[in-house]
Amino acid sequence: MKTLIKEIDINEPDKGLIDVFAAMLADGKTVIFPTETVYGLGANALDEDAAAKIYQAKGRPSDNPLLVHVADKKDVYDLVENIDGRAKLLMEKFWPGPLTIVFKKKDIIPDRTSGGLDTVAIRMPSDPVARQLIRRAGVPIAAPSANISGRPSPTKPDHIIRDMDGRVDGILVGGPCNYGVESTIVDLSSGIAMVLRPGSVTLEMLKEVLGQVELDPSLKNKDDNIKAKAPGMKYKHYSPQAQVYIVKANDLDDFAQKVDALCLENEKKKLRTGVMTRSSDGHTYRAIRFDLGESDADLAKNLFDVLIGLDRESVDIAYVPYFEEKGLGVAIMNRLKKAAAYRII
Ligand code: TXA
Ligand code: MG
Repeated sequence: MKTLIKEIDINEPDKGLIDVFAAMLADGKTVIFPTETVYGLGANALDEDAAAKIYQAKGRPSDNPLLVHVADKKDVYDLVENIDGRAKLLMEKFWPGPLTIVFKKKDIIPDRTSGGLDTVAIRMPSDPVARQLIRRAGVPIAAPSANISGRPSPTKPDHIIRDMDGRVDGILVGGPCNYGVESTIVDLSSGIAMVLRPGSVTLEMLKEVLGQVELDPSLKNKDDNIKAKAPGMKYKHYSPQAQVYIVKANDLDDFAQKVDALCLENEKKKLRTGVMTRSSDGHTYRAIRFDLGESDADLAKNLFDVLIGLDRESVDIAYVPYFEEKGLGVAIMNRLKKAAAYRII
């Protein structure tokens, strides 16, 4: 299929250009667009045939429900059965932004979109291009991350063009995504609020608003017997071709010492080695270095780009420190553990 690819100035988005892509969405076509978390692969959430095109473009299993994006808070009322006090608090505090809420769905949401569940996951993005696009399309937009299923989520324009040109009707190219990890998903559809996927809205931030919040037990370890509540979390994910190892160390010096020994071994085996580390790591590695930045926000923003970079550099084996699982660190380590297929040394 021929893909219409256009760049948009994120500081002064061209309304005419947004209208072209909004009309495609309203017409049942697929459009990739930037959001503040990762790029989304969108289609009309209320149109079964349009939703089916998303699964096809991504090669996504059909039991994995799509996340629905709205332009305004009031739009949620048409889509879900009940917005309780907790949901209202969360929407007030974190929307627009990187928080997805799981609600009991109304019948208007087709099974194709909800993956056959009686719930629907909804968020209101803060990215102005995303919001204008959804508003002008005039329908809620189903949009998973715009990667081929199982690959790292795209956070920069070149990630998408390489993988998705020819697989979708349109690509609206903006800048790099601000947060870099996908939204936090919180389920309010039954009992205690539960985080199904950690993200930039942290557990601590949610607790401040709701009091009681739990992390889906399946996120705490890799025990396959515990079923993930977000169907997508059970699939192999974020996996580069390289074998990634997470290295437990006391500090960056200790990390460098451990990794040096491994680099030497790999060199003998003629393996291409990569090291993903913080900017402040002053050590020179006998490996290709990938800079993750310094703050937790940097790590989150750069993580998928660096994972994709491993493949670009044909790295065979890569090392990364075990970062502290606090605040945003929970989301970072969740993605890293999956990328590493839980190889922790
Ligand atoms: O930041 C984001 O959330 C990005 C951008 C594009 O908005 N979207 C995104 O979509 O990450 P996706 O489809 O890659 O991930 C959505 C996750 C999947 O793991 C899916 O299984 C889960 O949300 N999900 C969707 N609907 C659900 C539901 N009703 N109940 C539980 N989990 C659900
Ligand atoms: Mg995804």
